[in-house]
Amino acid sequence: MSEHTSVLLSEAIEALHINKGGKYIDATVGAAGHTAAILKAGGVVLGIDDDPIMLALAKKKLSGETRYRLVPGNFRNLKTIAQGQGFDRVDGILFDLGISTIHYADERGFSFSESASLLDMRLNPQTQAVTAADLVNSLPESQLAVLFEDVMTFKPARRLANKIVKARSEKKIKTVGDFLEIVGEGRKPMMALRMAVNSEVENLKAALPQALSLLKTGGRLVVISFHSGEDRIVKEFFGRFGRPARPVIASQAEVIKNPSARSAKMRVLIKI
Ligand SMILES: C[S@@+](CC[C@H](N)C(=O)[O-])C[C@H]1O[C@@H](n2cnc3c(N)ncnc32)[C@H](O)[C@@H]1O
Repeated sequence: MSEHTSVLLSEAIEALHINKGGKYIDATVGAAGHTAAILKAGGVVLGIDDDPIMLALAKKKLSGETRYRLVPGNFRNLKTIAQGQGFDRVDGILFDLGISTIHYADERGFSFSESASLLDMRLNPQTQAVTAADLVNSLPESQLAVLFEDVMTFKPARRLANKIVKARSEKKIKTVGDFLEIVGEGRKPMMALRMAVNSEVENLKAALPQALSLLKTGGRLVVISFHSGEDRIVKEFFGRFGRPARPVIASQAEVIKNPSARSAKMRVLIKI
């Protein structure tokens, strides 16, 4: 299994201002890189992930550590999950959005280099019924275009939707390779599909107010996003509570070591 390198690790820990014995929620625990650093700094952590594979990995990574608990779940239900664990007046909450490097290496169809994989992209196949293949094979052309407009402008999105509808009338789209044959360069369309399959925008919009309500006064909400649409949502939400500061981005040195840090933007909100 490949490794995931945590993005903006020291910046996120600094932004969270870890208090010894303070309670922190890592709403996207993933490979537990940020969680391990919060524990090291003295915090107590509730780690959440919707992907059972990642949660099992986090458990393995944290073996030997204490002061943490891991809970399966989607952060759109953050408040219920946190309150159920006694984490309802917390010092800090971290969201490190999207998926990890480990996802790109597995066979769930997240990566355009895994062309034989089924076009699935569900983070949690136990709770999600609709795959990426279901969407591209069944959505009406107009809805497909709206889906792609999350990552590209109006005209290319319409063109792409039209190409897909024509292609699927001849042959069902099953694999990543089938999809790439139609769309050509696949990074952005694949991202739009993943975001739609996992309701990423809706989940983020639902989670931010819940996160704020779980923080104690002076508590910190830290969000790392990798896509301008997500950053806009975070900026708009944080902007309701004062002028948002410029986002923190990765240093050149970090981007050289870890190219996935290139598009990362971190924003911090302190509850007053
Ligand atoms: C970028 S990774 C986190 C990496 C982690 N911070 C680390 O340092 O190892 C994002 C994680 O969030 C999880 N995730 C994405 N959307 C989620 C959601 N709505 N609810 C819970 N977990 C989610 C993914 O399964 C993935 O493991």
